[in-house]
Amino acid sequence: MAETKPSSDEILQQEFNRWADAGEGATMERHHLDITGKTIRLMDLRPGERVLDLGCGSGWATRLLARLVTDGPEGFGQVVGIDVSDEMIRQARAASKDFENILYVWGSAQQIPWEENFFDKMLSVESFYYYPDQERALAELFRVMAPRGRMFILINLYKDNPYSLQWVDKLRVPVHVRSEAEYIELLKKHGFENVEPKRIPDDTPTPDDYQTKSFHSLEDLRAFKRMGALLLMGSKPDVRSKAPGHSIY
Ligand SMILES: C[S@@+](CC[C@H](N)C(=O)[O-])C[C@H]1O[C@@H](n2cnc3c(N)ncnc32)[C@H](O)[C@@H]1O
Repeated sequence: MAETKPSSDEILQQEFNRWADAGEGATMERHHLDITGKTIRLMDLRPGERVLDLGCGSGWATRLLARLVTDGPEGFGQVVGIDVSDEMIRQARAASKDFENILYVWGSAQQIPWEENFFDKMLSVESFYYYPDQERALAELFRVMAPRGRMFILINLYKDNPYSLQWVDKLRVPVHVRSEAEYIELLKKHGFENVEPKRIPDDTPTPDDYQTKSFHSLEDLRAFKRMGALLLMGSKPDVRSKAPGHSIY
């Protein structure tokens, strides 16, 4: 019998389950905390808001978001973490038992398992360049964002930071390498407004005895951090998306 080829999402699931088993969730928290903290401050979160953490991994950023939106005049703020790796979702749930306002869902950015017009804010940390079809993910994000909802997509692998490109060959799954200008065009093409890029430098010090497995030298690593991650921001216009029915794609 002919073997069926795994789908792009299954390939991502297998790879990130491997990362989860290897304890990469905690490593990513250390590596992404500085730039994510700066991004969360820009999100201007209010109690009562509904937030999506897309590609949430082990859920450490989801928990930061959840603390900022708990109770408000509009009710109970909620955070939904979605990830294509079921093992990441398992770890995220296990670490979030004390939170009543977080829900983790196993699913893909290619078909976000959520209803239309829901999220006031969306954060995605170091995940967007893995999505096999970024255009489809943006169409899905447009659908699930509330009218005037704002997205914050943070990526540290992009064309304008040459130091980040060494990862392209090291990663075991395909990634997109686009420039800031190309991403801006893509977000606008998908109907987002107030599209704005911002560079987010990583200000954590790199000690002289730091062992880097990825970069050619500590100077490259320091230059990579100085140049920073790319934050892409954009808002859904004040429109409501229709429920797509059963045949979206
Ligand atoms: C580099 S990790 C970052 C995880 C987390 N945001 C963090 O900063 O620790 C990338 C995450 O994106 C998830 N991911 C990759 N492709 C995805 C997709 N198509 N849909 C949803 N999640 C995806 C992976 O499973 C992984 O957990």
